[in-house]
Amino acid sequence: MSSDLSISPLQALDIDAIMAIEAKAHLNPWSRSLMRSNFGGLYCNFGLFDGKQLRGYCILRVVASEAELINIAVDPTFQGQGFGRQLMQYLIDNARTNNWSQIDLEVRLSNKSAQNLYQGFGFSLIGKRENYYPAAQGREDALLYQRYLEA
Ligand SMILES: CC(C)(COP(=O)(O)OP(=O)(O)OC[C@H]1O[C@@H](n2cnc3c(N)ncnc32)[C@H](O)[C@@H]1OP(=O)(O)O)[C@@H](O)C(=O)NCCC(=O)NCCS
Repeated sequence: MSSDLSISPLQALDIDAIMAIEAKAHLNPWSRSLMRSNFGGLYCNFGLFDGKQLRGYCILRVVASEAELINIAVDPTFQGQGFGRQLMQYLIDNARTNNWSQIDLEVRLSNKSAQNLYQGFGFSLIGKRENYYPAAQGREDALLYQRYLEA
């Protein structure tokens, strides 16, 4: 079991480790250049480390006080061990600290693990984008979830 877990902000220096997880965790992984473009400016990114090893990360875009979770992934070798939950708890705590008013996200209709995770953190289903994601066969709907933060 893990013994030296920490969550801290990510930097461009972490991109190799991020991309190693990104390629394994997602059906349609981001390219390196897309990942790189999601650092700095409006972006707020953090990772869960075991010692110096990155195990998972969140990529957020924050406009005014509204945050959008645009990527979350845990290394598949370490999924199902509570790391996703720790990242989400850190996100909610960080949102409260920074007085963000809400967090929005999109998820594939077929991605029940992620939907369970979001529902467990009080996210509500607020809509759907039909045929939004490319899928193994054809396209797949996106579900839109939202969580308001109490003042
Ligand atoms: C979604 C993801 C981040 C969850 O991370 P994780 O570390 O495996 O999740 P945890 O072990 O912390 O589990 C937290 C909750 O997620 C849900 N969950 C996780 N794995 C699940 C599974 N195989 N089946 C159903 N629900 C699951 C459960 O609600 C779980 O809570 P519980 O243990 O109380 O039942 C991870 O599966 C992942 O990286 N998936 C690939 C990338 C992805 O789909 N990202 C989301 C894009 S929107």
